[in-house]
Amino acid sequence: ASNAMWGGRFAAGPDAIMEAINASIGFDQRLYAQDIRGSRAHAAMLAAQGIISDRDAEAIGEGLITVLSEIEAGGFPFSAALEDIHMNVEARLKEIIGEPAGRLHTARSRNDQVATDFRLWVREQCDAAISGLDALIRAALIRAEEGADWVMPGFTHLQTAQPVTFGHHMMAYVEMFARDKSRFEDARKRMNECPLGAAALAGTGFPIDRHATAEALGFDRPMANSLDAVSDRDFALEFLSASSICAVHLSRLAEELVIWSSAQFRFVAMSDKWSTGSSIMPQKRNPDAAELIRAKIGRILGASVALFTVMKGLPLAYSKDMQEDKEQVFDAADNLMLALAAMAGMIGDMTVNADKLEAAASGGFSTATDLADWLVREAGLPFRDAHHVTGSLVAMAEEKGCDLPDLSLAEMQAVHGAITESVFDVLGVHNSVASRQSYGGTAPDQVRAQIARWKDLLG
Ligand code: ARG
Repeated sequence: ASNAMWGGRFAAGPDAIMEAINASIGFDQRLYAQDIRGSRAHAAMLAAQGIISDRDAEAIGEGLITVLSEIEAGGFPFSAALEDIHMNVEARLKEIIGEPAGRLHTARSRNDQVATDFRLWVREQCDAAISGLDALIRAALIRAEEGADWVMPGFTHLQTAQPVTFGHHMMAYVEMFARDKSRFEDARKRMNECPLGAAALAGTGFPIDRHATAEALGFDRPMANSLDAVSDRDFALEFLSASSICAVHLSRLAEELVIWSSAQFRFVAMSDKWSTGSSIMPQKRNPDAAELIRAKIGRILGASVALFTVMKGLPLAYSKDMQEDKEQVFDAADNLMLALAAMAGMIGDMTVNADKLEAAASGGFSTATDLADWLVREAGLPFRDAHHVTGSLVAMAEEKGCDLPDLSLAEMQAVHGAITESVFDVLGVHNSVASRQSYGGTAPDQVRAQIARWKDLLG
């Protein structure tokens, strides 16, 4: 039999394979709540405008609530023959209330309907990402405050560079995650316009009130161009882009946790809650959650590339290609929210080994720059010469198998006569970090000021 919703001009129904490639109900049933919410707003507006009767609108509204509760109860008989969530809901409504159900689709198309449903869904996911990031930032802030004085090696090229504080390192991620949060806030603002009432592509001759439906659905305003309203998915691309950047940040922190929890580093120990064992090696504590977070960027960026590729080159307005938007965004959103929650949990529960951090900070000639700066400040050397002298001292210490503070004054003076006892003040890692007072630097005062600023901002 031909389709009851659009089969008027068809003599036969679709091939089974056609039904399989065409149906989206397997995944877009996730939009049921948004679909019903949009339909209720549409029906109420149609009645307020005198396009359908109040009685019909009431029957539609109540019927839709029944459908909603049936779906939420579970076991709803979704049908692939009815293609998607929009027609599944409407068909069930017809079974429940009869003829008035057929009036719901007045002045509307599935094109503006799906664009509206999906915007509502993605908007909620922006909110979820924002609150997930908020929780993660708060978890990182707690660790930053605790470790504001803990010295650790700062790395470039993963080689010891200069001492920093653990608090400073955590606060670097607070900055990144805060920018991620603002990206979702921006995207949310831009996407908060309502496509409903654009109809198939050209608008409608019925005297609808798009401002009323936009307002009822919590949008700032209706979209101003009906072709644009049904044909763009830039809001989904923006969500995926913001998600991808956020996933990169999560991945980098996850990688650091993997390295830091290794036997060679032992900077942190993951709690049992976020570790797994090995079925063969009894000693193992594997940071699986961190590894999986590290990997999530693969599928999130993959989803982003997939949807960019789907959208590229599509002529206006709607094309069925766009049905492929949902699975990508669903998968990316699910995995981003999971990764954010897991990261907040891991950060909150891990044990940080301050002694290990300090021991590591003191190795690897991490205060060599402080020594060169001392030669500039106290002995008046040009920085390039100071750099060279310090390099010779590092080579000497390396030869002797010790670190810079272990060299004697006499040994240093043999390399450069202007060196005095006060050089030892700058060779300690605590003095090193305390001296980095420039704005945004690693000095504990500076870091505490940033922690205070963020606590204030977050309230
Ligand atoms: N399931 C479709 C989608 O997700 C709904 C819109 C269908 N519109 C149409 N004219 N076939 O894009």
